[in-house]
Amino acid sequence: MSDPPGTVRDMKAALQHVCRECGYRTAKWFGKCPGCSAFASVFEEAARPPLRAVVPIDQVPLEAGHRDRTGIGELDRALGGGLVPGAVVLLAGDPGIGKSTLLLSALHRLSQLGQVLYVSGEESLQQIRLRGERLGTLSPALYLAAETDAEAALEHARKLRPRILAVDSIQTLALRNLDSACGSVTQVREVGHRLAAYAKETGTPVIIVGHVTKEGSIAGPRVLEHLVDAVLFFEGDRSHAYRVLRAHKNRFGSTNEIGVFEMKSEGLVEVPNPSALFLAERPRDAAGSAVVATMSGTRPLLVEVQALVADSSSGGSPRRTAIGVDGARVALLTAVLERKEGLVLADKDIYVSVAGGAALPEPAGDLAIAAALASSLRDECISAGTLVVGEIGLAGEIRAVGQIEQRLAEGAQLGFTRCVLPQTNRMRTRDAPLELCGVSSVGEAMTALFQ
Ligand SMILES: Nc1ncnc2c1ncn2[C@@H]1O[C@H](COP(=O)(O)OP(=O)(O)OP(=O)(O)O)[C@@H](O)[C@H]1O
Ligand SMILES: [Mg+2]
Repeated sequence: MSDPPGTVRDMKAALQHVCRECGYRTAKWFGKCPGCSAFASVFEEAARPPLRAVVPIDQVPLEAGHRDRTGIGELDRALGGGLVPGAVVLLAGDPGIGKSTLLLSALHRLSQLGQVLYVSGEESLQQIRLRGERLGTLSPALYLAAETDAEAALEHARKLRPRILAVDSIQTLALRNLDSACGSVTQVREVGHRLAAYAKETGTPVIIVGHVTKEGSIAGPRVLEHLVDAVLFFEGDRSHAYRVLRAHKNRFGSTNEIGVFEMKSEGLVEVPNPSALFLAERPRDAAGSAVVATMSGTRPLLVEVQALVADSSSGGSPRRTAIGVDGARVALLTAVLERKEGLVLADKDIYVSVAGGAALPEPAGDLAIAAALASSLRDECISAGTLVVGEIGLAGEIRAVGQIEQRLAEGAQLGFTRCVLPQTNRMRTRDAPLELCGVSSVGEAMTALFQ
């Protein structure tokens, strides 16, 4: 029987005995090698899985790029459009952040496509049903199993042949034949392998919930990350209702996409316009604040950069703290401002942060960081209706950024009336929805911002 191309076989095969000297291999143990007559040269090795056929790339059977949409827009976005057949997705997050809630809502929607199986090793069936009552996710095609035995979980799946299999959480599942504790690195890795093998064999997407340990890794030293196709981190401050779902790795989509949710008693509610959320508590007329239109994957996102420049409190070297932006980038921009604009920052304490727990990983945020720093130092605010976009080079030049139309559209939608942007972008833009002010150097930008 030949395997279809691309199939991964279960690796649980018998041991082989191999000669260290000549490589002779047999199922039976030997004292003297039948191949080269060496003594005591035998060692054990797991049998090699059968050799798979090599296939020309254009002849690999495809399931037509099909994706199962979860129906939860923000989750589909983070997944890069939905669940690909045979994909293994790790949903990771702090305890209590809302992983099971998100999973149950997603499975409920997916159960409209066919039967889905939710294996929980954490909660009783009653507890899950209660959550289902609260979230309004009682679907007859959503099957539950309370199991902590990984083999049993897979057996349920093989019998039910669900459209989607979900396990909550991998740390509570164990293989009985391994004598290592539930949740240990060995167990997590082996259970992970079994689930991945099941996904590839059957083409069933598998969603694995994983707790982030205190050290911030998922179940020990990131044992699962290389094994799965996508890692979604569910993040947020438990004292706030907002949760961000961020793709940390995705073999089938961009890792820049984020999904934003609000935790309410009826469950997680999607936030279709996160810009409004990130700007919600922006202080009006405060120095040290600048708003930039950044791109998060394909989505424009307005975030507020805040800077605080203060006389150094310690006698020694001044403090430099950056949250949500790269500290090295802040240091570089500080140097450019000193050298090109004559701002005196070297002996000051500098704090830069992106408000609302957002992140600003792209250079298009440079001008906003510089603007916030200058604003704080000069104690002059940037007009509340002004958006700032642009990359800064070491010579103090302002460089063009991509996707300017989307950035401007998002700004206009949120009520911004003016944008300070790279002159190159300005020249290429027609019919802007807001007033444009093109600048080609840091100096020009400062004039435009603080007339
Ligand atoms: N009755 C309720 N009304 C409103 N919110 C609730 C209610 N019960 C739970 N929650 C919210 O759901 C959160 C827990 O969600 P959930 O159980 O999905 O998290 P989890 O990440 O799966 O946690 P765990 O790590 O314990 O498995 C709580 O922190 C709380 O904010
Ligand atoms: Mg849970």
